[in-house]
Amino acid sequence: MKVEFYKHNLGAKEIELVEKVLRSLFLTTGSHVDDLEGKLSKYLDTDFTVGLTSCTAALHLSLLAAGVGPGDEVITTPMSFVATSNSILMTGATPIFVDVEKDTGNIDVDLIEKAITKKTKAILPVHLYGQMVDMKKLLAISEKHGIPVIEDSAHALEAKRDGIKPGQKSFGSCFSFYATKSITSGEGGAFTTANEDMAKLVTKLRSHGITSELAQRVRTGLKTYDVDVLGWKYNMDNIQAALLIPQIDKIEKHWKRREEIAQKYRKAFTKIGIEMPREYENSKHGRHIFPIWVDRKKRGKILDYINNHGVGAVVNYPSIHLFSYYRKTLGFKEGMFPNCEEIAEREITIPLYSKLTDKEVNYVIRTVGDAVTS
Ligand SMILES: Cc1ncc(COP(=O)(O)O)c(C=O)c1O
Repeated sequence: MKVEFYKHNLGAKEIELVEKVLRSLFLTTGSHVDDLEGKLSKYLDTDFTVGLTSCTAALHLSLLAAGVGPGDEVITTPMSFVATSNSILMTGATPIFVDVEKDTGNIDVDLIEKAITKKTKAILPVHLYGQMVDMKKLLAISEKHGIPVIEDSAHALEAKRDGIKPGQKSFGSCFSFYATKSITSGEGGAFTTANEDMAKLVTKLRSHGITSELAQRVRTGLKTYDVDVLGWKYNMDNIQAALLIPQIDKIEKHWKRREEIAQKYRKAFTKIGIEMPREYENSKHGRHIFPIWVDRKKRGKILDYINNHGVGAVVNYPSIHLFSYYRKTLGFKEGMFPNCEEIAEREITIPLYSKLTDKEVNYVIRTVGDAVTS
């Protein structure tokens, strides 16, 4: 049996809407992007969404919008996809890593205050694997020190903790629609915020700092524009938006299926003693990916066994601070963030997506069980 690591769940509606755009005049940022932004704001119970080409773009632009630049520091986690801290470097600022909770992999909020200096301009937590960090506690720190929180919610579209959804109470939140995310346009992303000025600024920054995007000029008859700030080229187009729009209505249905699979995995793996991250109370898990933690010395063999038996499995994530570039340019070494390093050496991610059949789920459980116990 072959169980792919990930399969998207796109259907006829997505293809129809993309076809409609392809047969229309306007391929770039226009009314479909507006529609998607409205739908996402509604789903996330927030006020503003800005469609972008990736979560990396959202992170980069929101940091710029928060005034982050050369000489500044941004507190973040070393246990994430490298996009998180690369986006800080892209602004010219320095990432200041804080170790993670040993039993969840999320940034340890209790260590954040100690890392704050005069140079700290933002805090960038990641809701790892789909579990939100303790936003209540983090927002209290943010308020006390007057430092904005920008959330990397690439894993957490469906998540909620203590009644708070990503981006509702912070400076803003960044989402990914990359190929393996729960809604996808192959590549794509969004920034959401309750702050209108910041939404306007990020909208300007996504198109070179142009004061009025093309669709707006077409709509209003405006003949020219100004550039009053340096921006980038990160605007989502109508084709990406058309692919995403029908998926919004299916977010909860697909999440429920992933939740069901995750519960099945947790039950089966608990029985045979496989370790998994602790799950928070008062929390809705986004169920982006499903990690297990195995003996670090056996991880290579276990991963090979799983892959050789037809189940797609990968590692999420290597420690960011131990990448050669980070060691070389920022002087990081082994042992600096021990909890992160331990997780990085023990983690294996197994398939979790709504298209998995019960037969495939049972096969994954059997294969992982055999790999770990043999
Ligand atoms: C935690 C995290 N942050 C950021 C990103 C970057 O997303 P994108 O590929 O949309 O730039 C990813 C992508 O997988 C991610 O997992």
